Amino acid sequence: MEHCFRSLLRLSTLVISLIFLLSCFGFTSTEAYDALDPNGNITIRWDIIDWMADGYVAVVTMLNYQQYRHIEEPGWTLGWSWANKEVIWSMLGGQATEQGDCLRFKANIPHCCNKDPTVVDLFPGTPHNRTIPNCCKGGVVSSWAQDSTNAVSSFQVSVGNSGNTNGTVKVPKNFSLNAPGPGYTCGSARIVNPTRFVTPDGRRITQAMMTWNVTCTYSRFLVDKTPTCCVSLSSFYDTIVPCPNCTCGCQNNLTHPENCMNPDSPNLASVVSGGQKSNNLAPLVQCTSHMCPVQVHWHVKLNHNDYWKVNITITNFNYRMNYTQWNLVVQHPAFDNSTQISSFNHKPLNPYTSINDTTMLWGVKFYNDLLMQAGPLGKVESEILFRKNKSNFTSDGSWGFPRTVFFNGDSCTMPPSDAYPFIPNSSIYRNVSLLMLLISLLTTFATHFACVV
Ligand SMILES: *[C@@H]1O[C@H](CO)[C@@H](O)[C@H](O)[C@H]1NC(C)=O
Ligand SMILES: *[C@@H]1O[C@H](CO)[C@@H](O)[C@H](O)[C@H]1NC(C)=O
Ligand SMILES: *[C@@H]1O[C@H](CO)[C@@H](O)[C@H](O)[C@H]1NC(C)=O
Ligand SMILES: *[C@@H]1O[C@H](CO)[C@@H](O)[C@H](O)[C@H]1NC(C)=O
Ligand SMILES: *[C@@H]1O[C@H](CO)[C@@H](O)[C@H](O)[C@H]1NC(C)=O
Ligand SMILES: *[C@@H]1O[C@H](CO)[C@@H](O)[C@H](O)[C@H]1NC(C)=O
Ligand SMILES: *[C@@H]1O[C@H](CO)[C@@H](O)[C@H](O)[C@H]1NC(C)=O
Ligand SMILES: *[C@@H]1O[C@H](CO)[C@@H](O)[C@H](O)[C@H]1NC(C)=O
Ligand SMILES: *[C@@H]1O[C@H](CO)[C@@H](O)[C@H](O)[C@H]1NC(C)=O
Ligand SMILES: *[C@@H]1O[C@H](CO)[C@@H](O)[C@H](O)[C@H]1NC(C)=O
Ligand SMILES: *[C@@H]1O[C@H](CO)[C@@H](O)[C@H](O)[C@H]1NC(C)=O
Ligand SMILES: *[C@@H]1O[C@H](CO)[C@@H](O)[C@H](O)[C@H]1NC(C)=O
Repeated sequence: MEHCFRSLLRLSTLVISLIFLLSCFGFTSTEAYDALDPNGNITIRWDIIDWMADGYVAVVTMLNYQQYRHIEEPGWTLGWSWANKEVIWSMLGGQATEQGDCLRFKANIPHCCNKDPTVVDLFPGTPHNRTIPNCCKGGVVSSWAQDSTNAVSSFQVSVGNSGNTNGTVKVPKNFSLNAPGPGYTCGSARIVNPTRFVTPDGRRITQAMMTWNVTCTYSRFLVDKTPTCCVSLSSFYDTIVPCPNCTCGCQNNLTHPENCMNPDSPNLASVVSGGQKSNNLAPLVQCTSHMCPVQVHWHVKLNHNDYWKVNITITNFNYRMNYTQWNLVVQHPAFDNSTQISSFNHKPLNPYTSINDTTMLWGVKFYNDLLMQAGPLGKVESEILFRKNKSNFTSDGSWGFPRTVFFNGDSCTMPPSDAYPFIPNSSIYRNVSLLMLLISLLTTFATHFACVV
């Protein structure tokens, strides 16, 4: 009897721990998965293009296959650990941040002797003889949807003290990618079929001596940070619902008098330029109730029987950042292929799955793809025209507002859903124009006024 009880107990403990384990597994496996970009990754490919007496020359190519996540200033940083005692003799189109201890070398001093080198991109304007194609962009890489031709970054390394046949070379280990902050996890390098290169005239194909791939994926759960963006809402019918107070921080002018700047502050210019000189990249925001560097405002400005219009405004409140190649991801069930968007480029995300209510928006090159630092120019705007899909209207008035918004891949905080502005459902006011509505409102007001008097 007792034995039976004990084994039952043991069994249930086993089941519980099994369930626990499974739930852990389930959690970690969904962590890195982004439903809006299920195949998104950064692939780092090493192509050995030449052998040397004591090693090899490799071109390292970073391909950003992510639809909407780009690498912005100050750019990527790539690290790895050598398998043995390899050194970097020289580099083109990139550089190791530290030379490390090269004391054992007497004549030819290597570029880097570290066991764990860290490499960064060079800047535009690098002398010609130190560049290779796709290098020298200050580590800035476009997202795939926005500009796939610039979603690539390359550098070349000459490696010594390694093997010099495809059987003796050991692949580097422990890759890490900061782009620019944390968030990426890199797998281990896998030897794959050698890459084939087509010459520019298309008449000859060459191939690498040996190739390996490393895949890095982003998880927003690895980035434990406060929000950087918030959403405010309004409609032609109701008052503005602002960003929630203190979304990205609170104004605290007693303990941190400098945690935000008033636009009319006399020392604004000197603080901003001082930050630029010292390369300080921490945001310096304009004082607002939400304290976010970026605010997205969604204004429903028109509601007709067959269509409705939205004005979307992105405002930069950060004095220390020009957002180059910014992008916005917006989820709203009304996005479909008849939606018209002015002044911004757009592309549906995941058009072939059950979730295709999400669209990516970004600026037009040389027109508004640069969201300027806080100030009179720190703003971009667009107008969206939605066709009405009659089945998709709820009566709670919130149908006109987005479900989720991301700015540069980071989630923007929405106002609480019970605070959304009201928009009359057009099916109630089927044949009532805006003018009629106004007239009836005025009449009601007038009647009310008359009664009171
Ligand atoms: C990385 O992305 C590319 C392009 O979307 C895809 O072909 C590849 O399978 C992805 N790799 C991994 C390991 O997910
Ligand atoms: C590039 O050219 C400069 C001067 O023309 C020269 O001093 C330098 O050594 C060259 N660098 C390389 C890597 O060839
Ligand atoms: C090395 O090259 C030889 C000849 O090209 C090839 O047969 C072999 O599979 C390669 N080995 C590796 C590990 O790539
Ligand atoms: C891998 O790299 C990280 C930092 O980049 C380091 O902390 C860790 O010790 C390394 N692991 C191995 C096995 O080299
Ligand atoms: C390695 O990367 C290249 C370039 O991204 C890709 O074409 C190839 O499919 C990858 N190979 C594997 C096995 O992932
Ligand atoms: C700064 O603090 C004072 C007193 O606490 C308050 O009256 C004032 O409104 C605050 N200014 C700002 C810009 O928050
Ligand atoms: C948010 O802050 C503003 C002043 O900055 C204040 O008037 C308002 O009441 C606050 N709202 C909430 C919900 O605390
Ligand atoms: C933003 O760009 C403008 C014009 O190119 C420049 O004057 C300004 O210094 C830049 N601001 C920052 C924070 O980089
Ligand atoms: C867009 O929708 C119309 C019908 O509403 C359809 O005929 C057309 O094929 C669609 N186009 C695309 C690219 O899906
Ligand atoms: C998603 O888009 C495709 C192609 O435009 C369309 O065929 C499909 O019906 C859409 N799915 C949903 C749920 O709207
Ligand atoms: C809507 O945005 C356009 C620019 O796309 C702007 O000219 C217009 O003034 C805006 N309208 C409102 C009501 O905000
Ligand atoms: C919109 O309408 C389609 C078709 O009736 C339905 O499948 C979908 O769930 C609706 N979406 C919302 C948010 O109500």
